Amino acid sequence: MSRKLFVTTALPYANGNFHIGHIMEYIQADIWVRFMRMQGHEVHFVGADDAHGAPIMIAAEKAGVTPQAFVANIAAGRKQYLDGFHIEFDHWHSTDSPENVELSQTIYRALKANDLISSKTIDQFYDPVKGMFLPDRYIKGECPKCGTKDQYGDNCENCGAVYAPTDLKNPYSTLTGAAPVMKSSEHLFFKLSDLRCVEFLKEWTEGNSAINGAPHLQTEVRNKASEWLVGKDGEEDSKLGDWDISRDEPYFGIPIPDLPAGTPPKYFYVWLDAPVGYLASLKYYFESGEAKANGATQTFEEFIADEKVEQIHFIGKDIITFHTLFWPAMLKFSGRKVPDQINVHGFLTVNNGEKMSKSRGTGLDPLKYLNLGMNPEWLRYYIAAKLNGKVEDVDFNADDFMARVNADLVGKYINIASRAAGFLHKHFQGKVAEIQIEPGYDAMANALIDARKFAFPSIHASYEQRSYSHLIREVMSLADSINTAWDQAKPWELAKSLASERIPLGTKDRLHEICSTAIEGFRLLTLALKPILPALAVKAEEFLNVQGMTWSDATHPLQAGHCIRPYGHLMQRVDPKQLDTLFEPPAVTHPDPTLEREGENGGAIEPFAPEIGIDDFTKIDLRIAKIINAEHVEGSDKLLRLTLDVGEGKTRNVFSGIKSAYKPEDLIGKFTVMVANLAPRKMKFGISEGMVLAAGAADTKSEPGLYILEPHDGAQPGMRIR
Ligand code: MSP
Ligand code: ZN
Repeated sequence: MSRKLFVTTALPYANGNFHIGHIMEYIQADIWVRFMRMQGHEVHFVGADDAHGAPIMIAAEKAGVTPQAFVANIAAGRKQYLDGFHIEFDHWHSTDSPENVELSQTIYRALKANDLISSKTIDQFYDPVKGMFLPDRYIKGECPKCGTKDQYGDNCENCGAVYAPTDLKNPYSTLTGAAPVMKSSEHLFFKLSDLRCVEFLKEWTEGNSAINGAPHLQTEVRNKASEWLVGKDGEEDSKLGDWDISRDEPYFGIPIPDLPAGTPPKYFYVWLDAPVGYLASLKYYFESGEAKANGATQTFEEFIADEKVEQIHFIGKDIITFHTLFWPAMLKFSGRKVPDQINVHGFLTVNNGEKMSKSRGTGLDPLKYLNLGMNPEWLRYYIAAKLNGKVEDVDFNADDFMARVNADLVGKYINIASRAAGFLHKHFQGKVAEIQIEPGYDAMANALIDARKFAFPSIHASYEQRSYSHLIREVMSLADSINTAWDQAKPWELAKSLASERIPLGTKDRLHEICSTAIEGFRLLTLALKPILPALAVKAEEFLNVQGMTWSDATHPLQAGHCIRPYGHLMQRVDPKQLDTLFEPPAVTHPDPTLEREGENGGAIEPFAPEIGIDDFTKIDLRIAKIINAEHVEGSDKLLRLTLDVGEGKTRNVFSGIKSAYKPEDLIGKFTVMVANLAPRKMKFGISEGMVLAAGAADTKSEPGLYILEPHDGAQPGMRIR
């Protein structure tokens, strides 16, 4: 039976580029989607940018552009990551879109008509200078317990005390430095504590999809949800309360409709309109005709209400509440179909489990990975090899990555093709023989029988349940069996004896048979890995001289006489130098190592970077900075700590690798140039809030010398360089 699937991944905040955690989520979902497509199912896979909310509004303001321009700029950068890692969304949209405005307002009106919206006056910190209510993250102050300065409103970094923002001593707004005042305002709430909601959610979180019969939630997710619903240890106040869904001006969001006359405008809290963005993206995709081109036969409204359509969301473990409580309730009580499955994954950590910052990521920059010419399918394979269907964290470990790709993927799987193809072409014009797949015929035949009979159904189930690590183990053990059978049959000796004077009877046929069976094994493994390695599969299919294999091809072996093409390199091994470069912290200057082609420019200067448009250039916000202070950093032989004034009314802390070239006291009071919109970087010694520019050779080890820039007289801190 053919299935109809509507699949999404979480919508990333449009305040930064993708980090490796995002890419992991997309790879997980993309593999699943490709597998479903190989079964012949109708799949529609969409994503979008989550454009709204206070942080994006503030980031845009800092960048001196409108929020719309800010998010458009981020959106423009998405494609290179998605294409680069072969992540095939059918459509990518934005929550700041007409479709989302319409759908969010419609859903809200339906909830209201259902008597599930209430209003309440609440007191909140307000920045009187900015004229804005302050989300907690913009409030700092002194720890009420130990007095440490500049602590956030939830806990103290120094003594670990936990408290509310209102407990802070001498609180200030991080936006303006002003002391916040308490101010009251009317907020709108989604009445999740209403008995109808609680009853529905209890049932839904425990339930199974009416279509595919699988549980809506993984066990560990269901347990969490039930804790929120019924309260921990029966404690009343840990139960789900009503959900505050409104925000006051200024806010970048969707206006709340139908407010009583004379009330100031209010906007939906970003988490109300964000999941609606799933539907908005799908709606645009249907109405633009893209869905039809992709096999859809219905209108958007028909599709989304279709009892046979499975709605499946892939998300990370940090956003479970929104997807297992708020979102299903929003859909249910606005009279819509509810999700069938929420697939939750854990977090990706990089080299040793260091937690990545949610907004910045660390360690492994996906774009750098691609720009270094590293194969995107290495990463897809590695992530698949680590992922299961549970909510477990996954660690990217460089050594493990190299071992799995080189020893398993290339050493076991690719190796089969390269070993067998040579003999086939040398002795048999590339034609495969009739092969015996009968139990007990020989070790190679046994391996193929195992693959078809046992492994394929089990690999199928593993894909379905996202147990990719399990199926990769299975595929690699089949590759092991084939390689072992090959080694036992010693085809190289058979080939050698073909050159002797008296060729033992049957030698040539036996060699032909072994090579042909090995190629058939390679074909089966290619099929099994195709959702994970889509580009490699295309190359392997070219080599095998077959086209667009789907799952049912497992039982259709290559026919006797079928001619394969000569073996060309299917996949390189990982070079440890690539990994070294990948994890090298960015230098003071950012020469692109991929551009250092030897011999170009006669070796006189570093080669120029590829041409860019003015839009690329304007993304970089360069400012004049005054060096207020410069000092050595204890424990670092490369860095100086600079305190910079960029005209913001506060200073910035920047670590710069210029210690070899400058004495701190020579820098104080000087003007220089900095990149002011570089994402802050957490370093061992603290956070670096920008980068100072300096000239120097690409390789400062062999050619020392660093020269920071200094503007002509008259330039003032904060002036933009364009
Ligand atoms: N905008 C919200 C989601 C709205 S969905 C209607 C959001 N955005 S996010 O950019 O912070 O995260 C997007 C997705 O990336 C989430 O599923 C999140 O769990 C996932 N990840 C963020 N950091 C991650 C890792 N380090 N590892 C794996 N996934 C991670 O939340
Ligand atoms: Zn403290």
